[in-house]
This record gives sequence, structure tokens and C-alpha cells, in this order.
Amino acid sequence: MKLLQACPYYTMFPLDFPLAWLRKARPGEWVLDPFCGRGTTLYAARLLGLPAAGVDISPVAAAIADGMLAAGTPEEVRAWARELLREGEARDLPQGEFWELAYHHRTLEAIARLREGLMRDGKGPAARLLRVILLGRLHGPLRKGAPSYLSNQMPRTFAPKPAYAVRFWKARGLRPPEVDPLALLSRVIPRFLQDLPPPVPGRAVCGDARHVDFLELGGPYDWVITSPPYWGMRTYVADQWLRHWFLGGPPHVVYRYEGQIGRGSAESYAGALRQVWLRAAEACRPGARLVVRFGALPSQNDPEPLELLRASLRDTPWRIRWVWRAGSPDRGRRGARGFLPNPRPAVEEIDVLARWVG
Ligand SMILES: C[S@@+](CC[C@H](N)C(=O)[O-])C[C@H]1O[C@@H](n2cnc3c(N)ncnc32)[C@H](O)[C@@H]1O
Repeated sequence: MKLLQACPYYTMFPLDFPLAWLRKARPGEWVLDPFCGRGTTLYAARLLGLPAAGVDISPVAAAIADGMLAAGTPEEVRAWARELLREGEARDLPQGEFWELAYHHRTLEAIARLREGLMRDGKGPAARLLRVILLGRLHGPLRKGAPSYLSNQMPRTFAPKPAYAVRFWKARGLRPPEVDPLALLSRVIPRFLQDLPPPVPGRAVCGDARHVDFLELGGPYDWVITSPPYWGMRTYVADQWLRHWFLGGPPHVVYRYEGQIGRGSAESYAGALRQVWLRAAEACRPGARLVVRFGALPSQNDPEPLELLRASLRDTPWRIRWVWRAGSPDRGRRGARGFLPNPRPAVEEIDVLARWVG
């Protein structure tokens, strides 16, 4: 549970959602989340000792999710950080007013060394954990006492645009504190790795779920538990641009991100999801369950979420068995035909169970 809090990411679903479903799984059954976000489903699988794999188009999400499946002790993760910091000077130090005001120059140099080290040699379990924890510490609020973040005053959930941030810091005379990353890591690593569940096989990768061969990550799968990007949703990479930089991206905001599903007509959106359901079916065992938390940003003339999801499942081996209103305490269980008599709420979310029928 603690590790799940290491780094924020938008639109996470509650841990209880995948946990409740996966409690029905048999030992050894593989779990897949093709839109894994920060890996809530994968972490739920790990808590229950089930092997799991995930994919996300956002490098930030995929890195966080991959950390959810990594194993290591606080000593191993700290030792890895120390090792990376020992290795010479950073070669690729970002320049400009934003960077001068965002980080103390010695802190930035250390961050850049950690970044380059993890880009070079970041596949081991300690590196995967260190990456998630550093992503979560890269920016956040300044508080009294020992620093909790490496940056000048910034939100924790998203990185502000550079021009805005520079104006904000200048208007308030805010200078970046000098933060020793190792001292900070020594304080926070044990907190996040406390009570880490035993490791399970599996990993998460960055990719377009329409084109990934899920069997290369694990499986065959008995469970697909996921929440696709809602129709109309935009990429989060622009809001996570500093974390994206830390993972090897450019030192500026990236506004367009190829491969993100969610734009275009309802037909092309449903078609994109269908491609993912078909790929998932190829990697699943007969009888596998597909559990989807699904929603739509409501507007007068748009199709209902259930219509969109039904359209996406057409001509696939998945058959809808049950539909619930998401989060309703009694789960408002209904057969696949009758559904949701109430007027549409602000953001409508449904949970759908489908079975692989071949
Ligand atoms: C609703 S969020 C999932 C949140 C996740 N359930 C969690 O708890 O963190 C949908 C995710 O789909 C990802 N996504 C969008 N297009 C994708 C694609 N083509 N392939 C894989 N992932 C994609 C987005 O980056 C986003 O993280």
C-alpha cells in the first residue's frame, strides 16, 4: 500500500476495485492491465501473490507501474543510488532560468547523474524501485524541517509550465533549497518499502496496447482488469513533463504524445479499444474475465459509456455478463440488458464484466 503512494498519477482507480475481483482468482492465475496507469491492478495482484503484467503509453505511468512489481530492501535501493552518484559528472545538464530556479545547482547535478545512471543501467529490481521513489520526490511543496522533495516550491501531482513557474518563484523571491538526494532517500525509502509484499513474476512496459504482444510479458492470462482512457481524455505527459524528462525525455514540455487513445470520433475510439480487446483475447485463456471500469466525460449528444464499451467489444471473443454503476455500495448489479435508469451524473462510471467465449 505504501509503495502505491510513492508517486502520484492521475485517474488511479481505488485499490479495492481490483482487489475485490482478484480475491476470486486461483493461485498462479496471471493478471493483465493493458492500460495500467500507475499499476494499481498490478499492485493488487502482488498483494494476493498473483503474477501480473501491464502496459501504458505514458513512460511515467509505465515506470511507476513497473516499480509496483519490483522487489528490494531499503539497503539495496540506497546502495544503488550511492553507486550511481559516485559515477563521475553528469553529461547532460539542462540549462536555463527554469532549471536555475527549480533546483539548487548541486542538487540538479546529482539528479542528472541519477537520471543518466538509471537510463544506462536501470533494469534491475533496486533500480526499478529507486526510479519510482525518485519520480515521486522530483517536485513537491517546500515545508519547514528536513526537505521532502528535491525542488523549489512546486505541486506534487503535476509539473507547472516553465514560464509560469519562473514568474511564480520570482514574484515570491523563492530560491531552490540545496537538498542532498542521498539524505532525502535515506528518510523516504524505508517508508515506501515497509511491508512490501513478496515479489511476483511480471513487469510493466511502456507501449501502445494496440500493438504489444502481451504474451511476451507473461501469461497466458485469466484476468484482464483495467480502466481505458475515457473518450475525450488528453495525454498526461505534458503535465508530467519533469518526470518525463527524468526518464530520458527532453528538458521541455511535450504537448503531443503519439499513440494516446481517447481522441477522434466515437467510432475510431471504439475501434482503438477493440484492437486492445482483441490483442488481450489472443493472450488469454478461454473463460478469462475482462473487468473494465469505464467512463465518459458527459455531454448532451455523446453516446453513453455503456454504448461505447459495447461498440468496442463487438466482433471480439468477449461477451458482457454484468454491468454495475461504479462505486455503488450494493454494486447495483444488473443483467447486461437492463441498465442505469437514473439521469447521468457529472462523470459517469460503470464497471463491466465480460467473459472470453472464443
Ligand atoms: C484511466 S487511466 C488508468 C489508470 C489506472 N487504472 C491506475 O489505477 O493508475 C488510462 C491509462 O491509459 C493510458 N493509455 C492511453 N492510450 C494508451 C495506449 N494506446 N496504450 C496503452 N495505454 C494507453 C493512459 O496513459 C492512462 O495512464
